[in-house]
Amino acid sequence: MKQSNLTWWQEARFGMFIHWGVYSIPGRGEWLFYQEHFPVEEYAQLAQQFNPMHYDPHEWIAVAKDAGMKYIVLTTRHHDGFCLFDSKVSDFTAPKTGAGRDLIAEFVEACRAEKMKFGFYYSLMDWRFPGTRPHLPVQPDSTYVSAVEQAHAQIRELCTNYGPIDILWYDGMHPGKPELWRSEQLNAMVRQLQPNILINNRAGTPEDFGTPENVITPESRPWEACYTMNRTWGYARYDRNYKSAIEIVRLLTTCVAENGNLLLNIGPDGEGRFPIESVEILRHVGCWMRMNAEAIYGAGMAPFGAPALGVASRKGNNVYLLIQRWPGSTVPLAWCGSKVKSARLLSTGQFARIEQTGDRVWLHALPEYPPDPIMSVIELAFDGEPRASSPAYC
Ligand code: GLC
Repeated sequence: MKQSNLTWWQEARFGMFIHWGVYSIPGRGEWLFYQEHFPVEEYAQLAQQFNPMHYDPHEWIAVAKDAGMKYIVLTTRHHDGFCLFDSKVSDFTAPKTGAGRDLIAEFVEACRAEKMKFGFYYSLMDWRFPGTRPHLPVQPDSTYVSAVEQAHAQIRELCTNYGPIDILWYDGMHPGKPELWRSEQLNAMVRQLQPNILINNRAGTPEDFGTPENVITPESRPWEACYTMNRTWGYARYDRNYKSAIEIVRLLTTCVAENGNLLLNIGPDGEGRFPIESVEILRHVGCWMRMNAEAIYGAGMAPFGAPALGVASRKGNNVYLLIQRWPGSTVPLAWCGSKVKSARLLSTGQFARIEQTGDRVWLHALPEYPPDPIMSVIELAFDGEPRASSPAYC
């Protein structure tokens, strides 16, 4: 993988994940088929009802942009096998059922028009083939073989029919053996068809980035934590358990401070509408992002910070203190091996008075109470690359 392909993605830091399919109609999450043990034919009827009149990818993109998200990853098909795209090797697709249109083509066209980077999520397992269901043992003659063939054919379609794609986001590799899915061969084909694509690690080969799920476990290579906004990926009408804007900004800043990305999920309803709660929360996140963008985009791990108060990021000659626990009018920090030139609150532009003794620093004359209700950020500027006084600190 060429580093240049990763550059935009690592600078972007914040993306939107969208789980959407026929399971969004009943609204009991994306594992419905499996959890409620649907017969294949009965589940297939949902596709006839799937005609999302409110689907407008331009609106989705507008919400993502307003929240400061720089790319969108959409489920082209989930574990139920239903494709939002046109496929010659399956009839269980949006164009051939209720919707009568290629919803991925519309998404791609909108992303291109709005200059939004995008990715395709694709589930390898397809529960219509019992050989790919999680609890069944793998038989040499089991139906997973046809599922593997179908996956190879559909990945080829996705990589051929929609122009350049930024990301391929695999999921659901069951049986869990890359040899059975012929993952290396699959990815060689993808890279040939899409030379600039980024591929995640979930087809069982390491590829370009790691994907911790609902947890932040930093990796030494590029990584992206994916998180639900409530408790479910697909739309669940009963799930009002939303994370607040504060929690989301904490997740994002924790990722950035560890050189990672955050891919935050939304589950639109069966009509294609984002739940209003998600939109409202993202609006608050967006307000925060507009004021504090410098601390996020293109930023990564800082050499020192104020760990008792929050996390820190660094970009160029600046360190950003991302303060979750505001200490009052003086902010202390230590292990600072460079001379602080200036310290400024990003939300108000106010400068602090700096006192520095060796590697200990006090930022005075700041507000008594947190100046930003979501998270207050102080930008420390240095003349050169900021360094810790002791390498042991990091
Ligand atoms: C899991 C779940 C799936 C979800 C995914 C997102 O693999 O099976 O429903 O799409 O995680 O990371």
